[in-house]
Amino acid sequence: MQLTDREFNWIVSYVHGRYGIDLSQKRVLISGRLENYLLRNGYQSYSEYIAKIEQSPNGKEAVNMINVLTTNHTFFMREFIHFEYMQSTVLPWIKKQAASSKDVRIWSAAASTGEEPYTIAMVLKDYFGLEKGWDTQVLATDISTRVLQKAIEGRYLAEQIATLPDRWKRMHFDKITPEEFQIKKELRKEVSFRQFNLMDDIKFKGLFHLVFLRNVMIYFNEKTKNELLKRIYDHMEYGGYLFVGTTESIDKSATPFQYVQPSIYRKMR
Ligand SMILES: C[S@@+](CC[C@H](N)C(=O)[O-])C[C@H]1O[C@@H](n2cnc3c(N)ncnc32)[C@H](O)[C@@H]1O
Repeated sequence: MQLTDREFNWIVSYVHGRYGIDLSQKRVLISGRLENYLLRNGYQSYSEYIAKIEQSPNGKEAVNMINVLTTNHTFFMREFIHFEYMQSTVLPWIKKQAASSKDVRIWSAAASTGEEPYTIAMVLKDYFGLEKGWDTQVLATDISTRVLQKAIEGRYLAEQIATLPDRWKRMHFDKITPEEFQIKKELRKEVSFRQFNLMDDIKFKGLFHLVFLRNVMIYFNEKTKNELLKRIYDHMEYGGYLFVGTTESIDKSATPFQYVQPSIYRKMR
């Protein structure tokens, strides 16, 4: 199936306009992933598919397009330095800061299939486990409904949880088959999954103490990135922390976040 320049440009501008994702250099990715999808779903051409999306911008095909085009690679304990820092530095700060409300507000802002927010929930369980009255529910969002569905189910293959400490495996997983494990219901309840487009206004209640915005800004251009960082900044507590991917960085002159150490920033004013 032929992807013409016109069709390619339409897809690039549609995905950029709606989701901030820059696919202008990703022609092979677009045709590789979409061609399969179109063939499986009986389309004769990209134009036919594009027409369907134009007719119904919030319909099934528009949703499926972003499900197919997003890159959702993630894994348990990814960039473990953030979880160590969370335990050693961020949680003690939150414990003091939220001593009266006992409301811990952590957001995994590109949660993908759930490995990141569930790792956060496990660290929280270790830290607040024996203390009474703390609300430690984690907010986990992503644009892709496909990955969110997987995340809510919380089922993972044995090899996917291999890097977790045995203690966590015993505490937080049920064995479904010798090859498949599921996050226990108790822990699944600790993570609240929602579809959210990072290009939209943030309307979640309350200000965040800690935001994980890891390995998603790589798909955005500088302007989109800086505008998103500003919106997140406005929804954080003073003293709150932001974690970005360890290969990502923030333009210090373009956002008010204070640099703490590589990939860790803080709202200080
Ligand atoms: C590579 S994964 C990162 C997962 C996890 N944060 C990590 O570091 O392992 C990037 C995720 O960002 C999501 N994403 C991309 N653009 C988005 C947008 N505009 N709004 C919300 N999520 C988006 C994708 O669907 C994907 O699941």
